[in-house]
Amino acid sequence: MTALTEHSVTDMKQSHVGDVAELEKIIFSSPWSEKSLAECVGGDNTLFLVCEKEGRAVGYVGCYTVCDDAAITNVAVHPDYRRQGIAESLVKVLISRASERGCSQVSLEVRVSNASAIALYEKLGFKTVGARRGFYSKPREDALIMIYEI
Ligand SMILES: CC(C)(COP(=O)(O)OP(=O)(O)OC[C@H]1O[C@@H](n2cnc3c(N)ncnc32)[C@H](O)[C@@H]1OP(=O)(O)O)[C@@H](O)C(=O)NCCC(=O)NCCS
Repeated sequence: MTALTEHSVTDMKQSHVGDVAELEKIIFSSPWSEKSLAECVGGDNTLFLVCEKEGRAVGYVGCYTVCDDAAITNVAVHPDYRRQGIAESLVKVLISRASERGCSQVSLEVRVSNASAIALYEKLGFKTVGARRGFYSKPREDALIMIYEI
């Protein structure tokens, strides 16, 4: 557990993969499979963190660390556990862990219509640096590129 925040944030283990795959299915139109998530556990270039409540993972964040960039792939919190600061805790711990790995920035894409996620990233100090036209499918939508300088 990391004592940086009020929520218990730990590295994703194989035992969390089922819960996280379930979150993906509930929340996203193109969910990651259990197999893809399992391959991210403990990798040298992956950093996946979960927040546990009552013995199950109710939120997670993942990134690839490539050179000095930590590229976030996803952030998700179960609908029953939102607005409690869980995503904020997950991303703060990810920033701290990415910094320990020598990263100088954290980057991500977010749907232009995803006001709650954009508000989360702006609260944490991410800045919009560009856009990718038609980046997303199901439905097709542009992405904002946001970066946090560590
Ligand atoms: C976006 C998401 C991860 C936020 O998770 P969360 O745990 O509810 O967020 P937090 O409680 O940590 O919120 C932190 C800040 O984010 C912003 N925020 C979060 N949800 C918000 C909402 N519904 N409306 C407006 N701002 C919101 C606020 O600034 C909030 O701070 P505040 O509570 O002091 O106002 C969650 O809504 C989610 O899983 N959404 C679906 C998946 C998704 O869109 N992921 C992002 C893909 S890029």
